[in-house]
Amino acid sequence: MALMDKHAILERNATLLLAASFLVVTIGGIVEIAPLFYLENTIEKVEGMRPYSPLELAGRNIYIREGCYVCHSQMIRPFRDEVERYGHYSLAAESMYDHPFQWGSKRTGPDLARVGGRYSNEWHVQHLIEPRSVVPESIMPSYAFLADTPIDVKDFSTELVANARVGVPYTEEMIANAVADLKAQADPNADTSGVEERYPKAPLGDFDGNPQALTEMDALVSYLQMLGTLVDFSTYDEAAGYR
Ligand code: HEC
Repeated sequence: MALMDKHAILERNATLLLAASFLVVTIGGIVEIAPLFYLENTIEKVEGMRPYSPLELAGRNIYIREGCYVCHSQMIRPFRDEVERYGHYSLAAESMYDHPFQWGSKRTGPDLARVGGRYSNEWHVQHLIEPRSVVPESIMPSYAFLADTPIDVKDFSTELVANARVGVPYTEEMIANAVADLKAQADPNADTSGVEERYPKAPLGDFDGNPQALTEMDALVSYLQMLGTLVDFSTYDEAAGYR
């Protein structure tokens, strides 16, 4: 039988074709996925990554709730134009504590993976209240209500517990201090030594321009100001990451 005739058997028998297709896809899938479980460096070793502080985590929840990911990615691809615009391409380690990750797939606005420290808190607040007041051609919606919405902090430790259950290394101490740390990070008069010890490099102070109130604006801006600032690239060995 010629090869084409043999193939005709497959083509004329739907069940056989289905079974054979399944077999081919399974083999392909295993070849692609299995090595990831044996590689030592699927997630590269870096210094500086830590779980999000309670205030940052609250901000991240707002980011997800408001659907910022619908217009913004958080993944700088290893292309020259992106690296020149945004900075070092994103590492797997930088989203290892993200549940769910915020890589996004739509880039209506700029990538936000390294927006931390790029603008002042005042700029972010102004931009979120009325984007066109700082970027006249902007099509981003206004999120002014965040500045008038207090954060509900009462049971915030449960957010850390939920993340800990899926593998984020929040300690008992972090969970016990969650509410106090959340308030202290956004209070310029608070003793922040605990926050600084538990969450190195956490941006501190009043974020929304209103020291009297703890608002969703405080949380979201603290999250934005932290993005992409944790990994210490001076100690990151690019070559070792892939050995
Ligand atoms: C409808 C799409 C859209 C949505 C939804 C959206 N943005 Fe934007 N965003 C944009 C566009 C377009 C720009 C670029 C123009 C500008 O700076 O306003 C932008 C710019 C930004 C910038 C400045 C980035 C830079 O590097 O200059 C930040 C920060 C930002 N957005 C945060 C957010 C946050 C936080 C949310 C959710 C609360 C959000 N955006 C929701 C479209 C969007």
